[in-house]
Amino acid sequence: MAHPLHLTISVEVLASEAELSSAEAATWHAARTATNDAYAPYSHFHVGAALLLDDGTLFQGTNQENAAFPSGLCAERTALFGLAASQPQRRIKAMAVAARPATGDFVAVTSCGACRQVMAEYEHRQGNSIPLLLPGPDGSIYRFQSMSDLLPFQFSASDLPPRA
Ligand code: THU
Repeated sequence: MAHPLHLTISVEVLASEAELSSAEAATWHAARTATNDAYAPYSHFHVGAALLLDDGTLFQGTNQENAAFPSGLCAERTALFGLAASQPQRRIKAMAVAARPATGDFVAVTSCGACRQVMAEYEHRQGNSIPLLLPGPDGSIYRFQSMSDLLPFQFSASDLPPRA
């Protein structure tokens, strides 16, 4: 018998960055600073992502666009792929994202579906939840305890057929 399935996503809404821990605030500000390094000559939308690593350092990503539009990549994925490509042994303790028009103030943003899928897999690969900070409306901050919370019904390796 068909029945409805109601899913719940938990997210904390912080009124402002004053409610962040010092480590979170550093990650948050690194994401904002990273927007200066975006390459977004087509959308004029500068996105920055920051990863707080287990040694306390920060690793940034920025959106990288291309005249062949689909060849570009979001800030979240340049951060995650860049880290995994160069320092695969590093563990991620938190991630933050920031966005603004090329000239203008910071705006709210939520990561695209493709980035959510990648976030979910890197979290799974690491073996523990990774908190995520996203800028919400009116200066608020959405704090997710797990990046996977953004993508219910995500595709995972366990959905693949067994290897022959
Ligand atoms: N973009 C990101 O980098 N991250 C997001 O969360 C949303 C979208 C980029 C992709 C493209 O370079 C530009 O923003 C406009 O979509």
